[in-house]
Amino acid sequence: MARIIGGVATTHVPAIGKAIAENKQNDPYWRPFFKGFDDVHAWLARERPDVAVVFYNDHGLNFFLDKLPTFAVGAANEYRNEDEGWGIPVSRAADGDPALSWHLINALVADEFDITVCQEMLVDHAVTIPMALMWPGADWPVKIVPISINTVQHPLPSLARCLKLGRSVGRAIESYEQDSRVMIVGTGGLSHQLDGQRAGFINEGFDRLCLDKIVNDPEALARYSIHDWVELAGAQGVEFLNWMAMRGALTGQVTRAHCNYHIPISNTAAATIVLENRTEAERRAA
Ligand code: DHB
Ligand code: FE
Repeated sequence: MARIIGGVATTHVPAIGKAIAENKQNDPYWRPFFKGFDDVHAWLARERPDVAVVFYNDHGLNFFLDKLPTFAVGAANEYRNEDEGWGIPVSRAADGDPALSWHLINALVADEFDITVCQEMLVDHAVTIPMALMWPGADWPVKIVPISINTVQHPLPSLARCLKLGRSVGRAIESYEQDSRVMIVGTGGLSHQLDGQRAGFINEGFDRLCLDKIVNDPEALARYSIHDWVELAGAQGVEFLNWMAMRGALTGQVTRAHCNYHIPISNTAAATIVLENRTEAERRAA
């Protein structure tokens, strides 16, 4: 049976792609951020995931404002990137896992989530930057199932709804018969606002509350409305919806294995977190 080993959540600021391309990981501006991935690399080397289910938001590469699904699940053999106009190189493609995709799609629809199924799907910086951070230089050793959540055009799904989406995905993974080691990824956040009068807005106090509550009390975060979230975390801070879905998919006992918080990277409070997931049986055996 498939096992959910844990989750990683991280910012996906496009400028990170440019820093990687220019080998700036040790520059004073970038070092405190990239150093935060040493522990992530050690965790991935130890846990050896086969597949990553990636909750992210598309920023106009695959979906545009004319047709923007609330939730969309990829079911492709491969997910390509294209030039998005951020001045970052076009990324390599990510391998898909269509069998797991269709298993999740069937389970989500049976669970009354009205998703969009994408047998072709481009993935933008919200997928490619976290992948490049987790597996620098090397080939990406995992297949992915991308799940996009609308964080762009209101009305957005609620935090509570995204937590439920993640829980449904977690239950579905646990019922998957293949012996895969599955990790969950949530990308974006934390507080940031890219435009309007509050451009550059960051709220460290609220970010630290989120980094604490996401571990063992995501319900407390699920009680905020989207409009409260925009006020507290900025217009693009709603990318935390992806973190909520990631957390929901961790169905066992969850502990925080690593956390790094650094302000700012570009306009964003950059956070990286690793959550470990132990089933009841694993916990008793340990
Ligand atoms: C930035 C942050 C984002 O989440 C994004 O999608 C694009 C840019 C930024 O801070 O520059
Ligand atoms: Fe973003």
